[in-house]
Amino acid sequence: MTSSYGLRGRAAVVTGGTRGIGRAVAGALAAAGALVCVTARDAGEVRRTAAELGGIGLAGSVADAGHPEELADLVLREFGRLDVLVNNAATNRPYGPLMEAGAEAWREAFAVNVEAPLRLVQCAWRGWMREHGGTVVNVCTEGAGHVGPHIGAYGTTKAALLHLTRQLAGELAPRVRVNSVSPGLVRTEMARFVWEPDEAEAAAGLPLGRIGEPEDAARAVVWLVSDAAEWITGADLLVDGGTRVRAASGPGAYAVHERLRRVPEI
Ligand SMILES: NC(=O)c1ccc[n+]([C@@H]2O[C@H](COP(=O)([O-])OP(=O)(O)OC[C@H]3O[C@@H](n4cnc5c(N)ncnc54)[C@H](OP(=O)(O)O)[C@@H]3O)[C@@H](O)[C@H]2O)c1
Repeated sequence: MTSSYGLRGRAAVVTGGTRGIGRAVAGALAAAGALVCVTARDAGEVRRTAAELGGIGLAGSVADAGHPEELADLVLREFGRLDVLVNNAATNRPYGPLMEAGAEAWREAFAVNVEAPLRLVQCAWRGWMREHGGTVVNVCTEGAGHVGPHIGAYGTTKAALLHLTRQLAGELAPRVRVNSVSPGLVRTEMARFVWEPDEAEAAAGLPLGRIGEPEDAARAVVWLVSDAAEWITGADLLVDGGTRVRAASGPGAYAVHERLRRVPEI
């Protein structure tokens, strides 16, 4: 086994690859020798990131009609293969009590967080993986295991994505491995409203004493898509600094939810 874990020359798609966890995953895959394609809605950021990585990119929402097909076509045309898919792009809207969740925002959350990952797997499967094999990682969240204030829609979509991961693992074996990574609180834009107000307090609530960095989650994703994890499918890898351990140790111990309670608006 080389340090590239068998990723050299493989073609990888990372949705939401322009910042945060997705950017760290894309950078780590490129460093391991993979050919990388990133997506995001901001076209300028896509161009900039693709250039930094020596890869390619496609601008648009993963939930746009035709986007998954366009993405698979682009990668197959430019790289001639599509071995790795990282479904990382997500929305944490609508934020607030479920009783106030509107129909359109609810549908959009499921379109981005659940349906798009499925459509992308379908396109990768038809275009390459059914014949040649491949690996998929869906980025879920440690929080999907909890009932928390304000994030009911997000948690529900991520719980669905966890099950989608297991279902696809069953349906696509042995050709394709499908796993998930569930991060805890990570220093990114999406979670800024949770960690920024008092990072020291957020860190103190975690057994490992600090919030996560995008690279913490990225290393787990890259390991799971690599040959180092060749006998692993249908698994969910928690990368949470011990959040779940703390959550299991009694009422009031789940510090992230205490913080969310104090942040009614994002
Ligand atoms: N940060 C955390 O604490 C944390 C914890 C648990 C799980 N996660 C999960 O980790 C993943 C990455 O989150 P992050 O914290 O790294 O977020 P982030 O820093 O906000 O980055 C999100 C990335 O996704 C892109 N994106 C957002 N919506 C998109 C859409 N509809 N279509 C295509 N691209 C889209 C963004 O670019 P554009 O805005 O230009 O589209 C950006 O590149 C998500 O699945 C999230 O649920 C994060």
